[in-house]
Amino acid sequence: MLLAPSILAGDLADLRKTASLCAEGGADLLHVDVMDGHFVPNLTFGVPVIEALSNVTDIPLDVHLMVTNPERLLDDYLKAGASWIAVHWEAATHLDRLLARIRQGGAKAGLALNPATPAEVATDILPSLDYLLLMSVNPGFAGQPFLPYVLEKARRLKRAIEERSLEVVLSMDGGIGAENIGAVVAAGVEVCVAGSSVFGAADPVAAMRRLREEAA
Ligand code: DX5
Ligand code: ZN
Repeated sequence: MLLAPSILAGDLADLRKTASLCAEGGADLLHVDVMDGHFVPNLTFGVPVIEALSNVTDIPLDVHLMVTNPERLLDDYLKAGASWIAVHWEAATHLDRLLARIRQGGAKAGLALNPATPAEVATDILPSLDYLLLMSVNPGFAGQPFLPYVLEKARRLKRAIEERSLEVVLSMDGGIGAENIGAVVAAGVEVCVAGSSVFGAADPVAAMRRLREEAA
């Protein structure tokens, strides 16, 4: 299991410290939620913040684009240091082209699906993906409750990936904590994004350790 703490739930006035806590906790990826105030109501980070983060950490940046027109700034996210980039199915008109551009730019190409978006929309595009980011909350905010029906979607997608001998990694994002990470991993998820359960804890490093234990 790869652990990807979501910095949105960390101390936004001190991203350097947030990144160093993640390093101390052995985070595999830093999950960066880019929100544009259109695709989702909230507004968070953009290209300059990704660039600043990539200058203060060696942990690969897992950039989750919750934006309309993801094609518009794609090259800038790549240049800023994103190692993984996921675009939302609900926001991507020319998905095939977008995914190819992400790969050409040297990053892992991901497709994010809102909780209510059926798994089947990913069927044809699966071979062009490095990962699928399954939202287990409605995107926009950290700290929302986990939607358990997404586990069945993960199981279905895992079967589809294995049946075709593909190497698409399943990632899940939203409401993941020590109480449900075991079930998430059992459903076939390999990358767990966690915001509030890490940074809402008194000791985020201990919280990361606990998540790993519960996932095992
Ligand atoms: C939600 C974001 C998530 C969020 C996760 O729109 O995409 O990455 O920060 O935070 P928690 O773990 O608190 O749900
Ligand atoms: Zn996210």
